[in-house]
Order: sequence, then C-alpha cells, then structure tokens
Amino acid sequence: MQKQIDTDTAGGAIAVPEHWSSNRRDFLRILGSGALAASLGSLAGCSSGNASSRADELRNQLLADERFWATVNAMFPLNPAKRFMNVGTAGSMPIVSLDLFDTENRAKAAECLSGYTNLLTERTQVAPGFGVDPDELAFSANTSSGMCHAILGLQWAPGDVVVTTNHEHPGGDVPLAIAVARYGIEVSRVALPVGNNQTAQTYVDLFDNHIRSLRTQGKRVRAMMWSSPTYKTGTMLPIAELMEVAKRHELISIVDGAHLPGMMAYNYADLGMDFMSGAGHKWQCGPGSTGILVVRNKIRASNPLPLPNWFPIHTSSWTPRPRTTNGTATYDIGSVITSCGSLHTPMFRALVSACGIWDQIGRKKIETYDLTLSAYLKERIAEIWGVGSLYSPMDDPKLVSALTSFNPFRNPADVFNSTKSGQFVTRMLSDYNPGFVIRNVNVPVVGAPSDHYVIRISTHLWTSVADVDKLVAAMADLTTKMG
Ligand SMILES: Cc1ncc(COP(=O)(O)O)c(C=O)c1O
Repeated sequence: MQKQIDTDTAGGAIAVPEHWSSNRRDFLRILGSGALAASLGSLAGCSSGNASSRADELRNQLLADERFWATVNAMFPLNPAKRFMNVGTAGSMPIVSLDLFDTENRAKAAECLSGYTNLLTERTQVAPGFGVDPDELAFSANTSSGMCHAILGLQWAPGDVVVTTNHEHPGGDVPLAIAVARYGIEVSRVALPVGNNQTAQTYVDLFDNHIRSLRTQGKRVRAMMWSSPTYKTGTMLPIAELMEVAKRHELISIVDGAHLPGMMAYNYADLGMDFMSGAGHKWQCGPGSTGILVVRNKIRASNPLPLPNWFPIHTSSWTPRPRTTNGTATYDIGSVITSCGSLHTPMFRALVSACGIWDQIGRKKIETYDLTLSAYLKERIAEIWGVGSLYSPMDDPKLVSALTSFNPFRNPADVFNSTKSGQFVTRMLSDYNPGFVIRNVNVPVVGAPSDHYVIRISTHLWTSVADVDKLVAAMADLTTKMG
C-alpha cells in the first residue's frame, strides 16, 4: 500500500508567481531574453536570521528562491506521481528541447537531410558554457564513449602505469582494461576513503604518495585517471588539487566527469586536464546517446605540460598532424572526434538547446541550488541516521557534489546485504505517494570484508525543498519498517 508523505515541513504544491504566465513557453521566452536570469540573485546570503540549525539555515536559503525553481520544474515533462532523484543515471529533457528534437527529426525526414558534419556551429554554441574554445570540445556518444576516445587514443608503451582509484565506473575501467590487454599498460589503484572524515588534502596525499611509491619501485607512471565525482559516494575528487599533483609528476590527466556537465559550473580551460569526459544525458538533460568530451588542444597557463601523443580511434575525418607546442592549436581535435560518418544532427541540436537553457539560467546558479539541496539532505540524514551513516563527505566544500550516498539501516550487518538495499530502493518507489526514484550502489570500503551497499540520491534543478522533506520522511518510515 502506498503511504502519502506528509510532514510538517513539507509544503503543498508550489504556486507559479502571479506575474509570470503559467504557460511554459511564455516562461521560456522570458528566460530566453536573459532578463529573468539577470534579475535572480544567488542562493548564498538569502537566508533567514531565524534558523536554529544548519539544516534550517540551508532550508531557508532554498526557500528564498522556491518560486523560481518551481517554474524551472515546470519546464520538464516529468511524471508528477514520482520524484526523480536518480539523475546520476538518467536526466530528463526540457520540453523545449524535446520539441526542437521533434521538429528537427521531422525536417530531417522530410528533406532527407545529411548528417555529414563536424557540428562546429553547435560546438561553438556550447563551448563557452564549459570555458573552452570549440576546438577543445567534442560531442561523444556518452561518458563511456568519451573515455574510450581518451584512453584508447593515447600512445601507450608496455609498462606505462595509470594511477586510478578503486571507485571507478566501468565506463573508465573497461577502456583501461583494454589498454592493459592490448598495449601492456599497468593499472595501479588508490583506495579511497568514504564518509565525512576527509578533506581535499586527503586526495592530494593519497595520489602523491602512491605515485612517489610507484616511482621508487622503478615504475613508469604516465597518467592519472579519476572520477569527479565518483558514482559510488558522490565524492568530488578535487580536480584543481589533483591537477597540481598531475603536473608536479608530469602526468597525463583523464577525468571521468560523467556527472559534471549540468551539475557543476567548471571552467575546463582553467582546470587544464587533458581529457574530461562527461554525459550529455544525465545532469545536462540532453538526449540519450550524447556526451561532452573536453580535450586539451593547446598550451595554456593552467597546464604547461606538452600535449600527449594521441590518435583518434573513432573518426572518418583525420589527416596526420602534429599536436601544438604553444598556445595555438594545430587542428580542431573536437572536429576529428565528433566527425564519424553521418551523425544524428537533431540529437545534438537538442543537446545544444538544453545547454542553452543552462547557460540562460546560469550554470553557477544551478550548481549552487543542486549543492544546497544536497547539503540540506546530508544535514537531515546526519540528524536522523547520524553522520556516520553518510558515505559522501559533507563538510569540505571541495569534496561535495549533488550526489548523496548513505546507509539507511540500523543493523550494521545490513550494509553488506545487497538484496535488502535493493528492496529499499524498490519500496521507496512502490510504497510511497509520490514514489521516489533513487538507486543503490556497491562501495568497496578499506578494511571491509566485502562491498557495502548504500543508497544514492541525486538532487537536481527540478527537486524542491518539499521533495527532500518528503523523501527524508519516507526513508525514515521505511527504515523503521525494514529495521
Ligand atoms: C562516474 C561514471 N562514469 C561513467 C558512467 C557511464 O556513463 P554513460 O552512460 O554516459 O557512458 C557513469 C554512469 O552513471 C558514471 O557514473
């Protein structure tokens, strides 16, 4: 039987402001003018002075902009019977992008339109939102495809070592395994901590010590590959700090940034990694089978290391050309990676549309909202289940993302119980009204005899404070029922 979630803090339906039309297209037109985004302040500094706890403080910050986010919520065709909090697996396209997708699809069919293009116009529209030039941004099929472009395109020699972590996704781990089998590279893993008792420096020390120790053993460490954030605990491995480690040791840097586009407002030219592979279909809310791959293609002050030798592994547009040794690109690497036969242009134009909406709202504003929702959720979890239940960090701002992982069960042995963890996920959807779409994930934990199974929650721009309150109430109820 479904339980209606009703808490004293959970508000009712949120009204669209009277002076805005409830018609979604009208809102989008206002948004498109830029006037609305310009008039909106950031969350920070909007809090009430009456907050009695950190959770109350965060809640008040979120409520200050509640009407705006309710209107953003109305831009998505989400099933109102559910609350979608597994964006880390799949996003939802804004209605305006869906409409564009449909129109472009029909035009393509009506006119037999060609898909032979390097999508330069589209890459030029999207690139500024990520802080890079169009030649430094490629469209890929998804994060995994971007990781294959990056890892399998590098010129490896037998015995090269890639330092990575024990919390990687198969999207990065599998191309590494292929490089092991095909090129004879070695993979060496840093074991990651979980929970709140960690700082950005923890990661600097872990990677730096690991690399030094390998080098002392005579190993030829050539690259670092890591997820920011990891899909297991949502820990944002601190990119800027890890880039300092990579540069100090003159390493190629590969970031699995599946969750970064649409969640974080990072400037990738400033960060300077060699590769950042992100999803278009998760937090960025583009169509399925879209990804954004940022590739370092010129020397910038942020990373003075030489560009690594790299060859395309999936393209129909390439002539041998040296990589640049200065600040001017020798060729458009984004074009080489994007161009592979005939492309489904409507799909990428719909991604461009979603990116345009993010740019209009403000990527930093979305990041602030997502992270504040997640901070609020983490505080509520810490209040009810204890901070020790969290597998995500919450106190170091450099380590947080909009993914929150925790163990909801009271009996310590239950964290090893994958079946029970799976039932928790299933019942959060089936037993409550609204139902909650969340997921669970296995986490290798240092010193544990086997993986822990924890619950993972994504908080994104369509989620309200009331949604988080209802989610927490439902999880507390289910914890009581399941023991
Ligand atoms: C960290 C990480 N990397 C890679 C992937 C694979 O993503 P995609 O489906 O975009 O290839 C995921 C998917 O959830 C992920 O969380």
